[in-house]
Amino acid sequence: MTEPGLAAGLARARALLAEAERVLVLTGAGISADSGVPTFRGPGGLWKDFRPEDLATPEAFERDPRLVWEWYGWRREVVSGCRPNAAHVSLARWQARAPGRIRIATQNVDGLHSLAAVEGSTDGTTDPSADLAEVHGTLFGSRCNGCGLRFTDRATVDATAIGTLPACASCDSLLRPDVVWYGEALDPAVIELAFRWAAEADACLVIGTSALVHPAASLPSVTRENGGSIVEVNPEATPLTAHATVSLRGGAAATVPSIVPLPRTTPITADSP
Ligand code: OAD
Repeated sequence: MTEPGLAAGLARARALLAEAERVLVLTGAGISADSGVPTFRGPGGLWKDFRPEDLATPEAFERDPRLVWEWYGWRREVVSGCRPNAAHVSLARWQARAPGRIRIATQNVDGLHSLAAVEGSTDGTTDPSADLAEVHGTLFGSRCNGCGLRFTDRATVDATAIGTLPACASCDSLLRPDVVWYGEALDPAVIELAFRWAAEADACLVIGTSALVHPAASLPSVTRENGGSIVEVNPEATPLTAHATVSLRGGAAATVPSIVPLPRTTPITADSP
C-alpha cells in the first residue's frame, strides 16, 4: 500500500485507471452516503434501534414479516428521494465512453448506478443492467416466498398488518424483498459474473465499502492475484487498505470525479450529467 500526498495519490490513481484496459468498480454503501442514503455501519444505520443484522434475515421475515416489510418500505421511501451523486454520474459517463470495459459490481440495493446510467444516456438506449452486477439484489424488486416469481416493484409498502403486505399475483403467497439476506447465498449467476470481471480487470476501483462482507469483499484480491492493481476510495481505512496499490482518504463524490479518466471539460455535479 502507498499513502502518498493527496495530489500524488490522485494522479497515481488516475494513471492506473487510464492505463487499464478493463476495470472492475466495486461499490458499497459509502458511494451513496453522499446522496443521503445511510450506510449500514455508520451513523443513521440503525432503524428504530434495530441493526440490519436483526432484520435482514430469513428468520426475521419468518418471525415478523410485517416488521421486515415496514423497514424495507421505509428504505424504499428514503432511497426514492435520493439522487445519484457526482461519483455515480462520473462512473456512468466513463462506462458510456468505454462500452464493455468498465464493469460495476455493487453491494448497494438502492438502484442509483442504474439511475445515473439512464439519466446520462444521450440516445435513450442505455440498458442500465449492462455491465452492472447488483450482487445483493435490489430494493425495487420483490420475490414470491411461495413460487419464487420475481417482480419489479417500486410501490409504497402498506405494512400496517399482515393482510396489507404485498402478495404474489400468481399464487397469492407473501412477497419478500428481492435482496440477499444474512445467511442466504448470493445469486450464483450474478456473483460468478462479478468474479469473472474481477479476474479480467487490470484495475479494481473500490469505493465506499467497509470490505467486511464476503464474498463481495474478496473481489479486489482476485484482480490483484491476476496482476491488476487496487485503487481504494474511502474516508476511513479498511481491511483492504493494506492490500491497495493506492488508497485515497476522501468521500466518493469529491474524489471519484477527479480519478475517473474522463476529459475535464465540464465539471461533474450530480444534477448536470
Ligand atoms: P458499510 O456500512 O459496512 O460501510 C460503508 C463504508 O463507506 C465505510 O467503510 C465508510 O468509511 C465508507 N464511507 C462513508 N461515507 C463515505 C463517503 N462519503 N464516500 C466514500 N465512502 C464512505 O457498507 P458496505 O461495505 O456496503 O449486505 O456493507 C456491505 C454489506 O453489509 C451491505 O451490502 C449489506 C451489509 O450488511 C447485505 O445486506 C447482504
